[in-house]
Amino acid sequence: MDLALTAEQSQLAETCRAFADRELKPHARRWDREHHFPAEAVHKLRELGLLGVAIPERWGGAGMDTVAYALAMEEVSRGCASTGVIMSVNNSLYCAPVNRFGTDAQKEKWLAPFARGERLGCFALTEPEAGSDAAAQKTTAVRQGDSYVLNGSKNFITNGPNAAAVLVFAMTDMSKGHKGISAFLVPEGIPGLVRGKPDDKLGITASQSCSLFFEDCRIPAENRLGAEGDGFKIAMSTLDGGRIGIAAQALGIARAAFEEAVAYAKERKSFGAPIADHQAIQFMLADMATEIDAARLLIWKAATLEDQGARHSAESAMAKLYASEMANRVTNKAVQIHGGYGYLKDFDAERHLRDARITEIYEGTSEIQRLVISASVLKD
Ligand code: CAA
Repeated sequence: MDLALTAEQSQLAETCRAFADRELKPHARRWDREHHFPAEAVHKLRELGLLGVAIPERWGGAGMDTVAYALAMEEVSRGCASTGVIMSVNNSLYCAPVNRFGTDAQKEKWLAPFARGERLGCFALTEPEAGSDAAAQKTTAVRQGDSYVLNGSKNFITNGPNAAAVLVFAMTDMSKGHKGISAFLVPEGIPGLVRGKPDDKLGITASQSCSLFFEDCRIPAENRLGAEGDGFKIAMSTLDGGRIGIAAQALGIARAAFEEAVAYAKERKSFGAPIADHQAIQFMLADMATEIDAARLLIWKAATLEDQGARHSAESAMAKLYASEMANRVTNKAVQIHGGYGYLKDFDAERHLRDARITEIYEGTSEIQRLVISASVLKD
C-alpha cells in the first residue's frame, strides 16, 4: 500500500501550511472574538485556487483530486477553522454537485465563477423540521409553465449570508417522499428569497450561517439541477464528499491544538521540570498524536475512493465520525495540558475546543454517521 503523496499534493499541502501560518493563524483569535467574516482570507483562498480544488480547470477549478483537497482543508483549518468551513462548503457542497450533475450551460453560469472563487455558494438542505431526517422536506417547488415557485424555510445555512447562489432542495411531489425531492440553483437578490440574520454560535464564529426563507420565489425551470425527483440522491452523494472535507477540518483543528499543547508542555514548568517530563502529560500527547494519524488515514482512504469513482458512503462516514470525535478529545486534552490558561481567551486552546464541537454535528451528526456505517456493515 502506497501512502506517499504526489509531488503536486505535497506542494499544495506545503503552500497551504505556509499560507495558514502567515495569513490565518495570526488573525484567527481576533476574527473569532469579533465574529469577523474573514473576507481577506477568502480573497487569498481565491488567489491560491482553493475554492475549487477538485473542480476541472475547464470549469474554473484547480483540476486537482480529493486527496489534495483534504490536505488543503487540513492545513487551512489548522490556521482558522472558520475559514476552513467557508472553503469546504464552496468546494464540496456547492461546486462538486454542480460539476457532477449540471449541464454545460449550467456549469458555465453556476460553476465557473464559484470554482474560480469570484463568488461563494451555499447548500440549503436543512429545515427547522428536517435535520437528521433529511427526506422530511417541507419546502415546496411548484412547476408553473417555465418556472418553479419555491415556498418554505431552511436553517443553519453555512455561507448563507455571503453566498451569491444557493443550491436548494425542495419537494416537487410530496406524495413520493424522498423520490419527490428536486434540486435548484437560486441566485441571491431574487424576489422572494429572504435571508435571516447571522446565527450566534458557540464556535467557528468567523464563518456565518443563517436561515433562508422562500416566499413565492419564482425561478426559471432551467435552474433545476438534475431531473425532477433526483434531489435526495444529489444531496446524499454530495454529503459523501462533504464529510471528507469536514473530517479534514476536524483534523486541522486537532493538529492546531496538539501543536500548541506540545509547545506549551515543553515550556511550562511544574515540580521543578517542564511538564513534558511528566508521564501524565507524555501519555496524553502520545494518545493525541496516535489519534490524529489514525484520522488522517481514514480521510485519505475515503478521498482515494472518491478519486477512483467508487461509492464511499461508509468510508466517508467513518472518516467524519472518527475525525470529529477525535478532534473533541484532542482539543479537550489540549485545554487540560494548558491548565488554567487553557480556559482563558488569551490562549487559542479554548477556541479549538469550541470550533471542534460543530464537526460532530454538521453534515450529519455522529449518530447519523453510525447509521450510515451500520447500514453498510449489515447489508446483504
Ligand atoms: N448516495 C446515493 N444515494 C443514496 C445515498 C448516497 N450516499 N444515501 C442514500 N441514497 C439513496 C438510497 O439508495 C435510497 O434510494 P432508493 O429509494 O432508490 O432505494 C434513497 O437514497 C433513500 O435512502 P435511505 O432509505 O437510506 O434514506 P433515509 O431517509 O433513511 O435517510 C440518512 C438516510 C442517512 C439518515 C440521511 O437522511 C442523512 O444523511 N441525514 C443527515 C443529513 C445531513 O447530513 N445534513 C447535513 C446538512 S448540510 C450541512 O450541515 C452543511 C454545513 O452546515 C456545513
